[in-house]
Amino acid sequence: MSRHRRKVIYLLGFMGSGKSTVGNLLASALGWPLIDLDTVIEAGQGLSIREIFENSGEPFFRQIERAALTEASKAEPAVIALGGGTFAQPPNLDLIREAGGTTVWLDCPPEVLRARCHGMENRPLFRDEQSFTQLFLERLPFYRLADFRIATEGRKPEEVVEQILSLRVF
Ligand code: S3P
Repeated sequence: MSRHRRKVIYLLGFMGSGKSTVGNLLASALGWPLIDLDTVIEAGQGLSIREIFENSGEPFFRQIERAALTEASKAEPAVIALGGGTFAQPPNLDLIREAGGTTVWLDCPPEVLRARCHGMENRPLFRDEQSFTQLFLERLPFYRLADFRIATEGRKPEEVVEQILSLRVF
């Protein structure tokens, strides 16, 4: 099947990788709307991500995350900032591939991510250093499937945006 690359950019990466910050700047630079999946989920449930995990557990969160992703993927043009786990769920990967956009992985070493997430209350999957790194390693094989990888360590969000724009795939 010949595919037209839809004007949709999925930003993926682990917690703290800057998906929302970069997404905001990238969307402004392109003049496209930003769809921040976690924000959409929170608005839809009227609850914070932490409350959703506490009240209903991760399997329920993944269910509504998938529904939000399905809906978001209909938009074009759009910058879609995924949650840290979205791209590591195989059914979501299929959905994103089918949607025909561009996937960009914001890569950053786990120790930098850990420092950024430290003390943040709305990340139920950030429990301790060991499980954080373990989860990071489990997800790497998925993140590596992205169309593009951008190294973000030591770079300002604006520089990351410039680099994404220089990919010139859309
Ligand atoms: C999650 C990351 C969070 C949020 C939820 C689950 C994960 O998003 O979707 O807490 O599985 O890594 P951020 O990556 O924006 O923190």
